[in-house]
This record gives sequence, structure tokens and C-alpha cells, in this order.
Amino acid sequence: MTEQIDKNVSRRDFLSATSVAAFIGSMNLAGAVPAKARLDSDRKIRIGVVGGGFGASFEWHLDPNCTVEAVSDLRADRRNHLQQVYKCEKAYESLEKLVLDPKIEAVAVFTGAPDHVRHCVEVMNHGKHCICAVPAAMSLEEAALLKETKERTGLKYMMAETSYHRRPCILARQLYQDGMFGKFLYCECEYYHYLAGKHGQAYWWQNGKPTWRHGYAPMLYPTHSTAFHVGVTRERITDISCLGWGDDHPDLQENQYDNPFWNMTALGKCSGGNICRCNVMYNVVAGGERAQWLGEKLSLYMPGSGGQPFAVKAHGSPPVTALPDYQDLLPESMRVASGHGGSHTFLTHEFVAALVEDREPAIDVYESLAMTVPGIVAQESAKKGGQQLKVPSFDK
Ligand SMILES: NC(=O)c1ccc[n+]([C@@H]2O[C@H](COP(=O)([O-])OP(=O)(O)OC[C@H]3O[C@@H](n4cnc5c(N)ncnc54)[C@H](O)[C@@H]3O)[C@@H](O)[C@H]2O)c1
Repeated sequence: MTEQIDKNVSRRDFLSATSVAAFIGSMNLAGAVPAKARLDSDRKIRIGVVGGGFGASFEWHLDPNCTVEAVSDLRADRRNHLQQVYKCEKAYESLEKLVLDPKIEAVAVFTGAPDHVRHCVEVMNHGKHCICAVPAAMSLEEAALLKETKERTGLKYMMAETSYHRRPCILARQLYQDGMFGKFLYCECEYYHYLAGKHGQAYWWQNGKPTWRHGYAPMLYPTHSTAFHVGVTRERITDISCLGWGDDHPDLQENQYDNPFWNMTALGKCSGGNICRCNVMYNVVAGGERAQWLGEKLSLYMPGSGGQPFAVKAHGSPPVTALPDYQDLLPESMRVASGHGGSHTFLTHEFVAALVEDREPAIDVYESLAMTVPGIVAQESAKKGGQQLKVPSFDK
């Protein structure tokens, strides 16, 4: 979903907007944003990109510290598309062939969700760093395997979660790290994608056959929501209960996920003592990813598909309605419009910067699993009528 913000203001304009903004202006950006605009290095990460659907919508070729060494998709049309987008001469017929290329040092895995862990394990077992589309895993067993592989190989792993890199989320992180919320009390986060209609059915079926998306369990796709809580506070959702709603649609009667739900609402107890309410819904008139973060002293509201405006509200101050564009945190060549509210450029640059600086990416394997695993448990909870369940830890 495109951000519903009319005005892209520079950080300086934002800071002079109101008294709240002036207060925000005194904050230090360090750590709240993904990476430095200019890296003190000429090094170029040689990446392989796999998956020519969503995987063709990033800016690897625009990052001064990255070069696309090769691309891959099982489909020839998508291989060609990737080659054109990333201006790359080399293409492989599969990920399994691409990982044999000794020139490639990192692989971007943008295959279907049920293949993520298998593909990331294949990549890391071939000695290459890995960035992968969401979700990180689809079962607790897969989560354990991903963690074990990353720790055994010592390579870098990052989950390509777009919500984390949206500008309101960058600001929320900045406000949280500077203690501006006061006591942080509640995060309401949601991902809405209308899949019940014709458009959605095109995702679920191709050439008369069900795709991996057919009947997909909403809470096995939780990270667009959970990233707004975990990615701001770095807390863990420790206990979760969830309710689901479905109807007698034939796709919900029989699917590979044994999923009877269109819409799900989970309530999480968090390690910081606060509450996270997380929605994933496929059959409502709403679209996109959105959150609101409520604190004792300050609250931040993201814009939403229902026309809700963006606002930061503090006690006794008028709402701040302008949002910094954060473009000065990107290399100049990457200051372009990009997908999911402009998040793709930040996400791309964060992975490249992590490799160049030899550090873990902001969404490392532990944060990725902290965003993913609560959903796996929530799906079980909903099948048990909303029973509250413990969320196992996959931390170090
Ligand atoms: N906002 C977001 O973060 C966001 C948005 C859209 C999609 N996604 C995620 O991105 C991923 C890709 O989404 P999509 O819509 O492009 O899915 P898709 O099913 O349309 O595309 C996946 C592609 O991977 C290719 N593929 C599968 N196995 C392969 C292999 N072994 N070697 C080479 N290619 C292989 C397929 O041929 C296919 O073209 C999914 O996991 C999805 O969940 C995330």
C-alpha cells in the first residue's frame, strides 16, 4: 500500500513544524534507522537474486556497494524480467544452480513462503549470506532449523520485512529509543489484503491449479503486523491468544494449510509488560499495513486505508502531521520512489550495509523469528478456540 501522506517533508521541515516536532528534533537518529547513507568502503557485494515476482522490486543495482552477479527463476519469462530490471547478464534456471556460482557471496531469496527455509538452508550451506522474503518460517521445526543453520555457518541472515522500514515505523523506533512514549503501553498492528474477491483469487489459482497462496493461513503471515511492535521495541511476544473467522467458502474447506480462516485477531502479552493486538485479514474492506503505538506521554498513528491521517500526539500539544522522508539516510543513487511506502530502498541498503560493515542486519535471525513465531502459535490458538499459548523463544 502507498503511504497516504500528501507531503514528503525533509527532516528539517518536520522538526520546525510544532512544539512536539521541536522536541523530536533534539533526538539522535543513531540506531533508529537502518544504515549510514555513505559507507566508508568501495566494496561491492556480489548478490544473486532469486524469484522474479516480488523479488524484482528492489534496488540492488542502485546501491553503490552492490552488484547483481546473477539472477534466477524457474520461469524463463521471470528470469528475463529479473535480468532487465537488474541489468544482469547471467541467469540460472534454479536457485540450486545459482548457489554453485563461486562469485556470488549473498543470495536474495524471493520464492514462495513454503520454500523459504529450505532455500535459505541451501544458500547458507553453500557459504553464502542470505536475505529472504517473509515469513522466516512456517512451523516451529522450520524456525529451529533456520536458527541452527545460521548459527552453525556464522553467515548473515536477514528477513526482508517491509513494515520495519516504513517511515512511520522508523520514526516510532526513534521516538521509542529516546523514551518519548514515556511508558510504552500498547501497539495495534494490522495487515489487510482483500483476497476473497477476484483479484485475490488470481493469487490463489494459476492455470486452474492452486498456488502456494491458496488457502494460506493468515497468522502464518504475521510479520507485516508484528514487525511494528517487535521492530520498534525489540520486545518479545511471550504469550498469545487468537480468534479466527471463516465462512463456508470452498477454498477454506480444503487447502494445504488446513486453514479455515479468512480473518484473524491475536492478542499478545509482551516481554515489556505491554499489549500487542495483531490483525491479519483477507476478507474485509481494508488494505495495507498499519500500526498505532500508544504510550503514557505520546502516541503515533499511521495513516490507513480508511482515510485515517498520520499523526504524532503528545499531551498538551497539537498533533504533528508531517512525516520526515528520511531520504538523506540513503545513498544518493537510491533516493527513488520504492515499494511498500518507500521501504524497499531502506531494506535493500540495510542488507548491503550489514555485509559491508560485517555486522548483523537490523532484522537478524532472532528478530525475524520473534516476528514470525508468534503467528505460528496464534494459528494454533485460533484452532483451539482462542486458548492462550506460550510462544517459544528462538533467541540466542
Ligand atoms: N511486503 C512484502 O514483504 C511482500 C510482498 C509480496 C510478496 N512477499 C513475499 O515474497 C515472496 C515472493 O512473492 P511472489 O508474489 O513473487 O511469489 P510468486 O510465487 O509469484 O513467485 C515466486 C517465484 O519463485 C520462483 N522459484 C520457486 N522456486 C525456485 C527455485 N528453486 N529456483 C528459482 N526460482 C524459484 C518461482 O518460479 C516464482 O516465479 C513470497 O514469500 C511472499 O510472501 C512479500
